[in-house]
Amino acid sequence: MCGIVGYTGAQQASPLLLEGLKKLEYRGYDSAGIAVVKDGKISLSKVTGRIANLSEKTDGGRLLPGCTGIGHTRWATHGAPTDTNAHPHVSNDGRFAVVHNGIIENYLELREELTEKGYRFSSETDTEVIVHLVEMYYAGDFRQAVMKASARLEGSYALGIVCADEPDRILVVREASPLILGVGVGENFFASDVTALVAYTRNAIYLEDGQFAELTPHSIQVFDCTGNPVPKKISRITWDIQAAEKGGYEHFMLKEIMEQPRAVKATMAPRLKDGEIVLDDLQISAADLKKINKIVITACGSAYYAGCAAKYAIEKLCRIPVQTELASELRYADPLIDERTLLIVLSQSGETADTIAAMRECQRRGARALAIVNVVGSTIAKGADWCLYTWAGPEIAVATTKGYTTQLTVLFLFAIFTARKLGNLDETEYARLLGELKGLPKLLQQALDMNPGLPNLAKKYHNNHSMFFIGRNTDYAVALEGALKMKEISYIHAESYAAGELKHGTIALIHEGQPVIALCCNEAITEKTMSNIVEVKARGAEVLAVAFRDNQKILSLADDMIYIPRVEQIFSPVVEIVPLQLLAYYVARENGCDIDKPKNLAKSVTVE
Ligand code: M6R
Repeated sequence: MCGIVGYTGAQQASPLLLEGLKKLEYRGYDSAGIAVVKDGKISLSKVTGRIANLSEKTDGGRLLPGCTGIGHTRWATHGAPTDTNAHPHVSNDGRFAVVHNGIIENYLELREELTEKGYRFSSETDTEVIVHLVEMYYAGDFRQAVMKASARLEGSYALGIVCADEPDRILVVREASPLILGVGVGENFFASDVTALVAYTRNAIYLEDGQFAELTPHSIQVFDCTGNPVPKKISRITWDIQAAEKGGYEHFMLKEIMEQPRAVKATMAPRLKDGEIVLDDLQISAADLKKINKIVITACGSAYYAGCAAKYAIEKLCRIPVQTELASELRYADPLIDERTLLIVLSQSGETADTIAAMRECQRRGARALAIVNVVGSTIAKGADWCLYTWAGPEIAVATTKGYTTQLTVLFLFAIFTARKLGNLDETEYARLLGELKGLPKLLQQALDMNPGLPNLAKKYHNNHSMFFIGRNTDYAVALEGALKMKEISYIHAESYAAGELKHGTIALIHEGQPVIALCCNEAITEKTMSNIVEVKARGAEVLAVAFRDNQKILSLADDMIYIPRVEQIFSPVVEIVPLQLLAYYVARENGCDIDKPKNLAKSVTVE
């Protein structure tokens, strides 16, 4: 949940580290720090709060000279967000500094052991044990000391470590936390995420779990956990700098909402060839598909809600039962999963700790895992049996938008592809569905353009303490995601309910002026939702309905309307969510919230 960066080369390290940290700030932003090596000494600067504070404190990095350094932006897990708990942490002899992303699970026993040996701790973090271990094992060989220290650690960690005696060298270690090396000319880098590297190099090495690397300005060597050299595989980063910047928008979230037509098209286009769906990365025969008796979709947060929305399309087309499971529950559920289960794992980052654990648990029980992931080379992408990437480009805002809609796009492709292989779709219906799917980018653009009144609706609704989102079937699935968007960025309590459930308890909460967002895009069942609208209106609710543009019936019932273009029913979630993302955005803006970095949240939840 933190971001780490490192640089070694001919330039002053601190300004580059600050730039890198700014790109990683979405991963955590309660405190930050940098450590730089020069003339046999480590200089350190740490602050509570944002990277901007660190930049101010160090005069844009200029106050910390030195050409090798490491940096960190923190999302606190162990210990409050304070200057002392901020990384880097330094050894008692001042010789080593470490930055860490992840959690050291056995830190209490290590802390006890090190305290008994006389090491003094200055923070409450789990990380500090690492730097004292390195000091304890140091006998003149930096790499050996880091290897011995790492062997004592349990948990997840991506580490960057510098040593005052070796001013040109950084050691990095990866275990269950993302870590990427940037290969430059006369300079080398590391970071938690390629967004911090693209401004400097497009050549990257994705470390595997259990690997170490030693970086100097002119070399990178990779080792396994026993110290044996491992051949380096250099990959090209395809994301460009603009993709990782705001491009004139006030917030990354708005930019990413607006990018959805393009992102969905980019995800779909390479997989539609000559009137067929081609999923090159899913090498599974029709015979193997026929053996599947259950599909389990697992994920967290919005990715989980994408699974909930796609379940209807998969079941309808493939006639295979689909079970949606929160990864944090599934991993401990002793699940009924075997080799006849197809597991679908959804994750924008590909690094969500619970999702990784759930995937591994299901694979251990015999299931084969199909990952749908945005970040190339991420842990889930590499650990799954197959991976279909969502080509959404980097998503920086903590609240996912294009991540969600591109996940749905791949799930719809998968549903049609599988249904066709299973013989459930004749030629005509197959071609019709492909045509509808191809039309989605255009419909997304219309959904973006169709509601110029959303900022005004936000002015009307932003002053509320709570909102309800109701719907049935696919509308209910979209309500789940719509409510999450609203609460995570505007801090307004937002609950989603299956509309038919209201009268089983929740309707007691409806009072004069209570906003209810009613999703009415599943026309097969809208009449039922309309009855629920009447019920809540009778109790004073203010109803904001979401419906197809030509749906006059709803117009006469609701207080306010949001429109979407008419869309094939099973694909409607991908279009329907768009105005709800915008509504949440404008409400959060009215409330003066920090939209791209909501409080207490981080983009990538790499800890349990
Ligand atoms: O990277 P992932 O898709 O695995 O992340 C899962 C959730 O943490 C994520 O969707 C989260 O709920 C977002 N903040 C929602 O906007």
